[in-house]
Amino acid sequence: MKKLYIETVGCQMNLLDSELVVAALRKEGYELTGSTAEADTVLFNTCSVRQHAEDKIYSALGRLKDAKRAMPDKVIGVMGCMAQKDQQLIFKRAPYVDIVVGPGQLHQVPQLVREAREKPGEQRLEVSLGRKEGATDVIKRSHESFDPLRDPTMRPTPFQAFVRIQIGCDKFCTYCIVPSVRGPEQSRPPSQILAEARQLVSEGCKEITLLGQTVNSWRHTEEGVAWRFSDLLRGLHDVEGLERIKFVTSYPKDMTDDVLEAIRDLPKCVKYLHVPAQHGSDEQLLRMKRGYTIAEYREMHDRAKRWMPDVAITSDFIVGFSGETEEQFQQTMDLVRECRFKNSFIFKYSERPGTKSADRLPDDVPDEVKRRRNNELLALQNEISEADNHRFLGSRVEVLVEGPSKKAAEEGDRLQLTGRTMCDRIVVFDGNRRQIGQTLPVAVYDANAHTLFGAVVTDHVGPEVFSLAGSVG
Ligand code: 5AD
Ligand code: SF4
Repeated sequence: MKKLYIETVGCQMNLLDSELVVAALRKEGYELTGSTAEADTVLFNTCSVRQHAEDKIYSALGRLKDAKRAMPDKVIGVMGCMAQKDQQLIFKRAPYVDIVVGPGQLHQVPQLVREAREKPGEQRLEVSLGRKEGATDVIKRSHESFDPLRDPTMRPTPFQAFVRIQIGCDKFCTYCIVPSVRGPEQSRPPSQILAEARQLVSEGCKEITLLGQTVNSWRHTEEGVAWRFSDLLRGLHDVEGLERIKFVTSYPKDMTDDVLEAIRDLPKCVKYLHVPAQHGSDEQLLRMKRGYTIAEYREMHDRAKRWMPDVAITSDFIVGFSGETEEQFQQTMDLVRECRFKNSFIFKYSERPGTKSADRLPDDVPDEVKRRRNNELLALQNEISEADNHRFLGSRVEVLVEGPSKKAAEEGDRLQLTGRTMCDRIVVFDGNRRQIGQTLPVAVYDANAHTLFGAVVTDHVGPEVFSLAGSVG
């Protein structure tokens, strides 16, 4: 058995890509190892959204220099967004890297690894075309996504799966590298998505998470029929055996009435929306070229809450973007105070070479100011998340059990489990292995900003329940 070490940073798209690469390499006789020293092949699936994510990978590569000298036939590969962005630069900074593969060429990984092993010392670069390097169709084709037939044994859990419905992005927010590294927005045909969902369910999958950079912008015309995202949700809802449908990440402007209506009316749709606002000030949204005003974001948010009072909404925010004044930052604080997001992911602006903001807008907010604003916004969000979670004390929630909790202390058959509610809240409780994959009622007795703590409710089956069951069965 050959040994594979793989490290993944970044978003769910990368997690899915890594899962598929691992599945392909397993077919070639690889098994996973947690140690770079004993691995025959070391792969990094990388992210370029912020400088920090790239720095981490370059230092991990730096640490491999001696290992490669000690074991020259160890194949070292860099995949994903940083591979697409930096290309030859990776070989320059780490000359012992064997392969550099963009997110559109991941299907070639097994072959590239094989070739690298057969001809050591020859470096291989496989990436897609840049956004200006050809006709749109040719560029699109060069960003082919990697969605081979799924292998159920390769998923982290057999009852949950990511399903890619869209690749790339055409929104071109000025700070963002994604449109250049993941290429033009392309929606997968509904027939493929539905077939994949059916296959996953037939293998025991209960929950699917649809992935796209602006997932709710998905639309596709197939055999003369124009499908909207809401139509896809309805199509998936009809897949028998599927219990939960989630999707990330949503784009505020495309949260149209038909989408909200579908989520509200379809019981399998998780009542959770990740709709990044990015900022609370109109001037900053304009500089970011987000394509909406704060009034429009608020209107979308209020509409979602009005239609589904229990919906959980989360957001992303960037602090310290070019020209951000204290007053503008306070407008972000105001938006968070007003919308009371279930959670927010907060990032300090990181200038990305090749983006519009790097070309045209100065990165002029000092790092200590970015850090302070980050902490201030985080403290406010944590306060809100905690108060919001406290509303659940004493209530009963339906939890899809995902597996042992991070610090699961196993005692015999009992262990600490974790799962999620229909509004995507994490719940931790004591249980046993058999409950993994089941949907259980849990009574909540404690809560902090990020977690609800509870106990499984075991109803005593009384005479009424028996008669009810009798009348049904
Ligand atoms: N700097 C900081 N954060 C960024 N994001 C995207 N690009 C940058 C950048 N250059 C954030 C956005 C996005 C999330 C995935 O990462 O908030 O929603
Ligand atoms: Fe980046 Fe904007 Fe596209 Fe999101 S919508 S991936 S932030 S360009």
